[in-house]
Amino acid sequence: MLQSMRIEGGHRLEGTVEISGAKNLALPAMVASLLTDQPIVLHNVPNLTDITTMLGILEHLGSDPSCYGSDITLCTKNIVNVEAPYDYVRKMRASILCLSPLVSRCGRARVSLPGGCAIGLRSVDLHIRTLVLMGADISIEDGFIKASAPNGLTGCEIEFPKVTVTGTENALMASVLAKGSTRLVNVAIEPEVQEFAKLLNLMGAKISGIGTSVLEIEGVEKLHGAEFNIIPDRIEAGTYAIASSLTHGKIFLKNCIYGHLQCFFTALQQTGTTVQNREDGVLVYNNNDVIYPYCIYTDPYPAFPTDLQAQYMVLMSLCNGNATVTENLFENRFMHVQELIRMGANIYVDGRCARITGVQSLKGAPVMATDLRASVALVLAGLVAEGTTIVNRLYHIDRGYENIDNKLCACGAVLERITQ
Ligand code: EPZ
Repeated sequence: MLQSMRIEGGHRLEGTVEISGAKNLALPAMVASLLTDQPIVLHNVPNLTDITTMLGILEHLGSDPSCYGSDITLCTKNIVNVEAPYDYVRKMRASILCLSPLVSRCGRARVSLPGGCAIGLRSVDLHIRTLVLMGADISIEDGFIKASAPNGLTGCEIEFPKVTVTGTENALMASVLAKGSTRLVNVAIEPEVQEFAKLLNLMGAKISGIGTSVLEIEGVEKLHGAEFNIIPDRIEAGTYAIASSLTHGKIFLKNCIYGHLQCFFTALQQTGTTVQNREDGVLVYNNNDVIYPYCIYTDPYPAFPTDLQAQYMVLMSLCNGNATVTENLFENRFMHVQELIRMGANIYVDGRCARITGVQSLKGAPVMATDLRASVALVLAGLVAEGTTIVNRLYHIDRGYENIDNKLCACGAVLERITQ
């Protein structure tokens, strides 16, 4: 049965939202457990369907996970399968992260190509290129990536033609057990990628240059177990920050790390919202009657994150002027626009640029999204729209937002989950 969310608009949000662990760090951190036969203990793992999917994949490969609240222990004494089946990979693109650790640990892997998804082609050519440069034999057969490196991988210099988050993470997992040293140039420096490299070092890897766009890795014989805390999810935090701005409310984002959202918070302040960095989180409130227009464009970290683009567009749809939102990372990440237009927004898409003319108000409507961040953007729109909004296909949201119903209702939102 499909679930929807019925939202009654017009309620100001005030209260505290405890930010959960970062999905886009928890996923690669779980996969890193394939690199050793010793246990990896992860704390503050968010309870999300993507995490459950990844647990399924890792069990299929031979891991023996145990979960206790937000703590997950993963131990892969032996890899019993080197294939990540299409059924898992089609559900979650991050499954591609299994490619390098399988080749590093067993010398071979058979991982389904992820296929396209709503926000774009999502090619994995750069993941494959890394393994080829490090000496693996790669073939694409029946929709699968077949990789083989019976004598192991060999370190080398690899320059990425474009920044790729999981591409960097796969390259790190290919390098840490490779023969010799590897130099990765033009890597992603998202906080999740930096933390992931720190986890690998905790496991005995030798990675230097973390936080810069060049990483040097000295291959080692084996990696050992580690215990690791997942940082708070900056995209979840940014999403609730916009909920506060939109409803002219006041929300304390507990555990949010201000420095992980510098560019985003700067943009939010330009729209008239106050953002205060506190000891154990960030306070976001909007006492203004108006939302000022402020143009943004997405780019790799530390620029404005693409994963907050749809949410920010909702804010701009109610600004007192004109603003542009430019999406530079994905070729099709405006799927929320049509639904926002149905709610009364005035948006014109011109290639990678959405041109927004602010309107007085949005009108509640039944809407449907196609990806995680577009879905949550429609929930945000429903919070401020006149009347009732029904957001369908809620499974998208449950992939990336732990307990979103309770977190919003605890701040005064009036919404409920309905099964249709
Ligand atoms: C990660 O996806 C995140 N997912 C995405 O979050 C995020 O939107 C994205 O990085 C950008 O920040 C996880 O970390 C699990 P990329 P990833 O490789 O690694 C192109 C969410 O909502 N590219 O950095 O798949 C690609 O098409 C998700 O939580 C290639 O051309 O993104 C895109 O245009 C959505 N070839 C650009 O690079 C490749 O081999 C950046 O993609 C790889 C990527």
